[in-house]
Parts: sequence; C-alpha cells; structure tokens
Amino acid sequence: MSAALSRVPVAAEIIRRTQESPSVFTLGLRLCDPAQHSAYRFMPGQFNMLYLYGVGEIPISIVSDPDRDDELEHTIRVVGRVTRGFDALKVGDRIGIRGPFGRGWPLEQVRGKDLLLLTGGLGCAPLVSVINYVTQRRAEFGRIAILQGVKHMDDLIWRDRYDQWAALPDTQVLLAADVAGASWSWHVGLVTELIDQVAFDLNNAHVMVCGPEPMMLASIRKLCDSGVDEKHIWLSMERNMQCALGQCGHCQIGPHFVCKDGPVFCYPEIRERLGVKGF
Ligand SMILES: Cc1cc2nc3c(=O)[nH]c(=O)nc-3n(C[C@H](O)[C@H](O)[C@H](O)COP(=O)(O)OP(=O)(O)OC[C@H]3O[C@@H](n4cnc5c(N)ncnc54)[C@H](O)[C@@H]3O)c2cc1C
Ligand code: FES
Repeated sequence: MSAALSRVPVAAEIIRRTQESPSVFTLGLRLCDPAQHSAYRFMPGQFNMLYLYGVGEIPISIVSDPDRDDELEHTIRVVGRVTRGFDALKVGDRIGIRGPFGRGWPLEQVRGKDLLLLTGGLGCAPLVSVINYVTQRRAEFGRIAILQGVKHMDDLIWRDRYDQWAALPDTQVLLAADVAGASWSWHVGLVTELIDQVAFDLNNAHVMVCGPEPMMLASIRKLCDSGVDEKHIWLSMERNMQCALGQCGHCQIGPHFVCKDGPVFCYPEIRERLGVKGF
C-alpha cells in the first residue's frame, strides 16, 4: 500500500449503486487517478476506510473480486450517521478512500483444504471476495460449503449469487432465516443448526466465520463439538476504528489491533477475550 493511500484519502467516483435491500446498498467505486486505480491491489478479507467528505470515515470490507480491476465494490448497511450519508450519494458523486488495510483470510494455509464459510447477516460481505478468489482457482481448493443466516428472510441479499455458487462443482450452499414465510424453501432457524448438514468431514476442514459476535461464539462451540480443530477456525472481527494504522487504539482487543493484526484472527489468538464485555 502506498503511503498516500494509507494516510490521506484519495478521491474515488461512484460508478455504480445497487440497492440490495431497504437498508443495504452496494457502491462500485473507481479511483479518480487512473494510475492509482490500476495499481490498487487487495486480498480477500481486507477493508478500506471510506470517507464521506465533511461527515466522517468508516471501515468497510472490500467485496469485489480481487482478480477484477474495473471497480472496487463495497456493500453497506445503514446504521448511523456516516452510513446514512453514504446512502444519500448517487452515481457520479465522489468520496475519499484509504486502504487496503488489515490481514485478510489465510488463503495460503487453506489451499487444498475443504472450506466451510459460515456467515450471519452482513457478515457475508467479507467472505464474498474469498468465494470469488476460490472459484477462480477451483482446482486448488477442496470442497466448499457456504452457510449464511439472516434474521428475517427479507434480509437475504445476493440470492442470484447463492444460486450461481450452488451450481459450482463440489460447492454446497445452505441458507437459514430465523423468521420466514411460506415462500422460503430453506431452513427456518439458526445458521449454526446447518453445520450438521455439511457434506464433508469437518475434522480436516478450515472454517471462516463472520457475523455478530454472539453468532460467532455459538458457531465456535458447535464447530469444536463437531470435531473442528480450533486452529482451523478463522474469525473476521469488527471494532470501532479511527486511524486504521495501529495508532489510536480504538480497535484493540487486548494486545491485538483489529485494524492491522486483523480483522481476520485465528480463534486461539483471541479466545480469551472473545465475547468478554469491554473487549
Ligand atoms: C473491518 C471492518 C469491516 C466492516 N465492513 C463492513 C461492511 O462491509 N459493511 C457494513 O455495512 N459495515 C461494515 N463494518 C461496520 C461499519 O464500519 C459500521 O457500521 C460503521 O462504522 C457505522 O458508522 P455510522 O457512522 O453509520 O454509525 P454510528 O453512528 O457510528 O453507529 C451506529 C450504531 O452502530 C454501532 N456500530 C458502529 N460501528 C460499529 C462496528 N464497527 N461494529 C459494531 N457496531 C458498530 C454503534 O455502536 C451504534 O449503535 C465494518 C467494520 C469493520 C471494523
Ligand atoms: S483504528 Fe486506530 S489503532 Fe486500530
């Protein structure tokens, strides 16, 4: 990452805006400087700091396919001041961007292994780029199971992507909604209840998890009970961030800085502090 792109936001233009659900939208961005845009590289699981001029800056995962360089894709849920401001933008508007930041998913360590990708809510966002990465290199990885849970069936975004992934070789897709109506053909209940339906032996698999912390804790308990080696469980963590440079301390989990040591951690690295109030 160049110093300019890590410390000072550069201008990016919104070239696409997609409304995914009433409160979730995707922005396709292109850096305004063509040389900076073509030099920009990221790894799945990394994030950018997106700056809404005059309002504030927030960390957002990069959803795009790392092999595509036409646009940088970010999917955002409206929760507060800055995300509400981004929601009001349209194609042609400009924002600031710094990044990419952080340690992404351990792609070298999981090469050749079976992979379970377990996500809740918008936790699916940091895993989309992994799915893109793996599907471009399908022969280099083992079987894949993609498990996604939402609170209400209407919260599910990217239905067409799940259909496309389900059609890939050795790829299983299972969806769950806590609350669903008659048109929902998937599981009604918690996403963790789907773990028993994974079509391969979890003892040798690696698992990538992202979602609300209670969901991640329940997943870890179930995965360990199912024989997953805890060193094979990888978690993408969210914390309030300011600098993204390991300097302000806003994002700390004990000695770890989520912005630079994470956001992806191996479970044993943060086990003692996971789910503990104050961390
Ligand atoms: C590494 C990383 C990747 C992220 N990726 C995405 C993404 O792809 N898409 C997306 O929509 N969001 C993502 N987030 C969360 C996003 O950064 C926050 O939703 C955003 O900062 C909220 O800003 P706001 O000003 O709109 O809300 P605020 O007004 O700051 O807060 C609104 C509410 O959200 C809570 N909140 C704020 N930030 C966080 C946080 N980081 N974690 C949990 N609760 C929070 C606050 O406590 C408050 O209740 C990510 C966060 C991190 C750390
Ligand atoms: S956000 Fe400042 S130290 Fe991580």
